[in-house]
Amino acid sequence: MTQVPDPEAPESIDLDRPNAARIYDWFLGGTANWAIDREFGERAVQTFPMIKTIAKSGRELLGRTVRYMARNGIDQYLDLGSGVPTAGNVHQIATSVNPDARCVYVDNEPVAVAHSQILLEREGVADRHAVLHGDLRNPGDIWPRALDTGVLDPKRPIGLIMSGVLYFIGREEGAHEMVRKYLSLVPSGSFFMASHITLDGVPESDGDSRESIHEQYKQSSTPIHFRSRAEFAEFFDGLELVDPGVVWVSEWRPEEGESRNSDRMAADPSFSGGICAVGRKP
Ligand SMILES: C[S@@+](CC[C@H](N)C(=O)[O-])C[C@H]1O[C@@H](n2cnc3c(N)ncnc32)[C@H](O)[C@@H]1O
Repeated sequence: MTQVPDPEAPESIDLDRPNAARIYDWFLGGTANWAIDREFGERAVQTFPMIKTIAKSGRELLGRTVRYMARNGIDQYLDLGSGVPTAGNVHQIATSVNPDARCVYVDNEPVAVAHSQILLEREGVADRHAVLHGDLRNPGDIWPRALDTGVLDPKRPIGLIMSGVLYFIGREEGAHEMVRKYLSLVPSGSFFMASHITLDGVPESDGDSRESIHEQYKQSSTPIHFRSRAEFAEFFDGLELVDPGVVWVSEWRPEEGESRNSDRMAADPSFSGGICAVGRKP
């Protein structure tokens, strides 16, 4: 389906196919999405009703991991595949712990970048916050541009974040090599946070609908790739895993008073199908 050009849409936005950033924004209740994304989202919810709850629990995890890194001395972040801004963005979470925290956002979706720019113009500080339009699969392009912003000091530890994005990058695209490259660029003492979707250990009764979501995403501009727990753990090779290691998203250092996203997920964390970890570069 081809859409009528939208004069409000940033240049180069692809409105012929639904896109991960805008679909995710719709799952989270945002407005930075178009009819083609909402139709895709509605079909995904019909196939797999828990998908919105799972997206919200991913954002909660992002909050907990950034707070953890900030409390452990990290005051600068490179958020790769940062998405459309929504409640609890990395710079806001980090600043709530350390008012001097810095952050560079990167996304390849023009709508996500445009919304991040608007947010940072409103509440950001030019020498502490920046957003780049770029493809994280190319560290040789992203890293120098991130440093060119002047926001990050490459000699001090950085919080490298790939929340809910590695599953858009296939093994044949060099996902593991790419992560290794970023990890080779950040200094010792840096942290790496990532979350991912898996079918490994997920209740079999749910397998079919998750496979259908997989098929549906093939129609989008951003197909998804499930990984086993072992393949995900490989991203952390050479790092010291922060306790509790590679776990289901809701099991990573749950915080007192945090919303319990659903009884189903509270009873069985594997139901989220999301795994995560934080590692520290020795
Ligand atoms: C599911 S959203 C996650 C957003 C945010 N990190 C979070 O956890 O809430 C995935 C984001 O990754 C972005 N993305 C996917 N592939 C990318 C790539 N190759 N380069 C940069 N961004 C990418 C998408 O545009 C989207 O905004």
